[in-house]
Amino acid sequence: MHIRNSWYVAATSDEVSADKPLGRRICNEAMVFFRGADGVAALEDFCPHRGAPLSLGFVREGSLVCGYHGLTMGCEGKAVSMPGQRVGGFPAIRRFPVAERYGFIWVWPGDPAQADVAAIPHLDWAVNPAGSITSPATIA
Ligand code: FES
Repeated sequence: MHIRNSWYVAATSDEVSADKPLGRRICNEAMVFFRGADGVAALEDFCPHRGAPLSLGFVREGSLVCGYHGLTMGCEGKAVSMPGQRVGGFPAIRRFPVAERYGFIWVWPGDPAQADVAAIPHLDWAVNPAGSITSPATIA
C-alpha cells in the first residue's frame, strides 16, 4: 500500500537527458520520464500501440518515440504521429504531475487535481549548502 497523493523523488535531474527517456517504477506504477519542449514530462511507461515500454525508445524534438514501431507521444500522453498509420484511434496514456526542483525530478502518482508544487518539501541544504552544514571548525 502506497501513499499516492504525495511528491516522490523519481530521479536526479541529470538522469533525464535530452535524448533518452528514463523508466522508473514509483508506487508500483511504471513511469517514463523525458524532457519535452516545456520541461520534464512523466507518462505511463506503456505504448498504446502494442504495449512496449516507452522508456526503451528515444526523444526527438521534445516528443517521446516508441522504439518498437515509431509511435510518437506528446508530453500530454497523446499519440502525435506514427510512420504509415493514423493515430487518432489510440487512447491517451496516463500523465503524471511532475516538477524539477533542487536537482531532482519529483512526481505525483496520485490524483492530479491534488498535486501542488508548493507541497514539495523545502530542501535548504540544496539551495544553501554552506549554511546548513556545521563545519568541524565550529564544533567545540
Ligand atoms: S509498440 Fe510502440 S509503436 Fe508499436
